[in-house]
Amino acid sequence: MPAAKQLRRLFNDTTYTMETVLSGIRSTGHLHLGNYFGALKNFVKIQDKYNCYFFIADLHSLTTHPHPDDFHASVKTILAEYLAAGLDPEKATLYIQSDVPEVSELYVLLNMIAYVGELERTVTFKEKVRQNPDNVNAGLLTYPVLMASDILIHRANWVPVGKDQEQHLEMARVYARRFNSMYGVEVFPEAHNLVFTGEAIKVPGLDGTGKMGKSNGNGIYLYDDEKTITKKVMKAVTDSGPTEPNSPMPQVIENLFTLLRLVSDQSTVDYFTEKWNDCSIRYGDLKKQLAQDICKITLPIKEKIDAIYNDDAYLSKVVASGRDRARASASATLTEVRKAIGFRAF
Ligand code: ADP
Ligand code: TRP
Repeated sequence: MPAAKQLRRLFNDTTYTMETVLSGIRSTGHLHLGNYFGALKNFVKIQDKYNCYFFIADLHSLTTHPHPDDFHASVKTILAEYLAAGLDPEKATLYIQSDVPEVSELYVLLNMIAYVGELERTVTFKEKVRQNPDNVNAGLLTYPVLMASDILIHRANWVPVGKDQEQHLEMARVYARRFNSMYGVEVFPEAHNLVFTGEAIKVPGLDGTGKMGKSNGNGIYLYDDEKTITKKVMKAVTDSGPTEPNSPMPQVIENLFTLLRLVSDQSTVDYFTEKWNDCSIRYGDLKKQLAQDICKITLPIKEKIDAIYNDDAYLSKVVASGRDRARASASATLTEVRKAIGFRAF
């Protein structure tokens, strides 16, 4: 029996002494390779070594006002893709953020110790303001406070996320420290990124522009079929090729190699690096190999997604048991928080 389950049985609740891992993904479309390598793959790896909470951040997805008809389907999509990729509801607590109202209460309370100036300086906030100047809502500004509530509500020690989320994580640590020192009690631990390979991962897009992202329109999805993946990879932006041996790689080529390092074996990476260095590289060959190696990872996951998505009875069982476990842990934290602040019963 996995250690997490054994401990849960032993203590018959979620307050045992094992370290807690927590992470979430917004329900804003299908999961892509960035989500997989930056987050999900690691979730699967650690789910039986820690007390794990993995959730679907549906409240966070509301900053972009999804149509009500799509909202539920998006949550279901991520849930099915979580499960297809190997998350096991017997090992980890899988839940939907909005099913745990304690998170929203903690969000209100943390908003009182979060300063507008520091929120306005957040890189992701400034980026969103630049991208969508007509939708600068308060939820977007306080996005890091809601994320801190997600983390602190289970007093998580470790939060596996991609590089793009590290500033938010730092803010969660700031709020934890500020709360503890303001009220003179150690309610919250400081959570850190759980990184497996030296440093946090950033999966690039194939269009040469920054990171692969759901909203950047440059994703290769776990749900894509072989033909779609091959087409996307073959269309990746390249240049006219190296003219001098051992020359530095331009960003667009570096991006292809970054992906290659994630999905291919070392000998394949070495082979194409050599070809680059002696100027005999053919981008067509590189892309074909890359597409093949991506498919090797994603197609077995894709195969499972539809069956899980259509199994409503199974999904509702997973969601209900995740919700109950998450709420038990969340309400224990909230009791401490309310006591520290000075709420008293009449
Ligand atoms: P997206 O940015 O595509 O909307 P989310 O914001 O919901 O996806 O991200 C969920 C998780 O996936 C986070 O841990 C995030 O760090 C990780 N992630 C998203 N895109 C990338 C990427 N391109 N490279 C590495 N990790 C990523
Ligand atoms: N903000 C994260 C993202 O965009 C998703 C998220 C919400 C999250 N709450 C979290 C990640 C708590 C880790 C922990 O990727």
